[in-house]
Amino acid sequence: MLITKTIAETRAALGKVRSEGKRIGFMPTLGYIHEGHLTLVDIAKKHSDFVIVSIFVNPTQFGPKEDFSAYPRDFERDRRMFDARGVALIFAPSVEEMYPELELIKFQIEKMSDHLCGERRPGHFNGVVQVVAKLFNIIQPDVAVFGQKDVQQLFVLKRLVYDLNFPTKIIMGPTVREPNGLAMSTRNVYLTPTQRAQSSILYQSLQRAKELIQLGERRASVVIAEMTKMIQTATEGRIDYVEIVHTSDLQPIETLEGRVAIALAVYFGKARLIDNIILDINEKSVSEMPTGD
Ligand code: PAF
Repeated sequence: MLITKTIAETRAALGKVRSEGKRIGFMPTLGYIHEGHLTLVDIAKKHSDFVIVSIFVNPTQFGPKEDFSAYPRDFERDRRMFDARGVALIFAPSVEEMYPELELIKFQIEKMSDHLCGERRPGHFNGVVQVVAKLFNIIQPDVAVFGQKDVQQLFVLKRLVYDLNFPTKIIMGPTVREPNGLAMSTRNVYLTPTQRAQSSILYQSLQRAKELIQLGERRASVVIAEMTKMIQTATEGRIDYVEIVHTSDLQPIETLEGRVAIALAVYFGKARLIDNIILDINEKSVSEMPTGD
C-alpha cells in the first residue's frame, strides 16, 4: 500500500495507475476509521481496480465551536485497517498542502443546505463541497463512495458532480450499524455506556416511521410527531431535528410521495448523532432506496 502526503506525488502515482487502464475508486475520510468506512472500501473495490482513500480532517467544514481540534486522529491505526482491507493508496495531506493560501474562491449552495444539518451547522456544507471538489480534481476518480448516514452530504455532492460536470460517479454505501441499531460513527466514542444503550431508539424510530408509511400514512407531520414522541419518551437525548425532505432538493415536504429522506439528529451529551432512511413512496408500495450501485 502506498502512502502519499503531497498532491504532486499523488498525481504521479495515479497517472501510472491510469496509464495501465485501471479504474480508480475513491473514498474520502476524516480518519479514525470504523467498519462503516471499511464497508465503503469494499464497495469501491467492487466498482474499480485501484482504491484510494484520503485521510484529512478538513478545517473548512468545522464551525468555530465544533470539535476540529478534538476530532479523534490515529493515523497508524487507520493505516493498518485500510491495508488489511486492500486499499492501494492513502492520501494524507497536511492542512498547508490542501490550503497553502487564503482561498478567494468559495462555493455557495442554494436550497440544499437550508434544512437538516445545514441549517444547524452554517458553512459546513460549503467546506465539504470545497474539499471534495479539490480532492476530485487531485484524484480524478472514476467512482467515489459516500455513506448514506451523511444523507445531506451525499445528495449535495451528487448535485456538485451534476452541476459542475465532474466525470465521477457517486455511489451510496449503506449505513453500518452496531448490534443495537446505532449507526456507526467516529463521534460514537463520545458516548457513555448509558447513552450508547439509549441511542438504539433512533433507528427504532426510523423503522416505526417506515411502518407507519407502509400502513398508509402520508402526512409528514404525523410521522415526525410519532418519532419525536418515541425519542423523547425513551431517552435523555435532546432532539436537534426530525425532518422529512425530498432527496432532489432537500426541502421539507408535507405529503409523502416520491423519494424522501427521513432524517434526525439528536444530542446525547456532547455527541450529536445523525441517522436516516431513504424511502421510495408511491400509492402501491414503499421501499428503501438500494445502496451500493
Ligand atoms: O464525511 C466525511 O467524512 C467528510 O465530510 C468528507 C466527505 C471526508 C469531507 O471532508
